[in-house]
Amino acid sequence: MKTKVLMVCLGNICRSPLAEGILKSKVDASKVFVDSAGTGHWHVGNPPDPRSIGVAKKNGLNISNQKGRQFNSQDFSMFDYIFVMDNSNYDNVVKLAQSEKDKTKVQLILDELFPGENVDVPDPYYGGNQGFDQVYQMLDKACEKIVNRL
Ligand code: 4NP
Repeated sequence: MKTKVLMVCLGNICRSPLAEGILKSKVDASKVFVDSAGTGHWHVGNPPDPRSIGVAKKNGLNISNQKGRQFNSQDFSMFDYIFVMDNSNYDNVVKLAQSEKDKTKVQLILDELFPGENVDVPDPYYGGNQGFDQVYQMLDKACEKIVNRL
């Protein structure tokens, strides 16, 4: 059975599509399934933000075929690990949990780099390209840690 990992942010167009693409590039697809979702519904069916597509491309990854979807409570039974980008995503995801086991699957992704420090991946949506570069670098480091413990 494959290990299943879900990356979650608010819109599923900026941060979690990058996290999905980066982790996918580091794992064996026959062993690990990676997906992403947003807690919000606004961008369901949409491709990632052009700035996320751009920063991924600059780093050798093609994420342009991804399509936005909304997180739902069935994701708890589908996935082994649910990595959220910030504390607000954490609250929104955990609200839909139906058991303690569900809750234990949810973790801030930057806990991989700064355990217990409650650090958010900043939402780059309202900023410029530099924010997307920073987010990419953070997620790349965090995904490297994740790979080592999957
Ligand atoms: P994301 O960024 O959560 O990293 O995908 C956002 C994208 C869109 C919106 C908010 C955050 N929005 O409000 O539409």
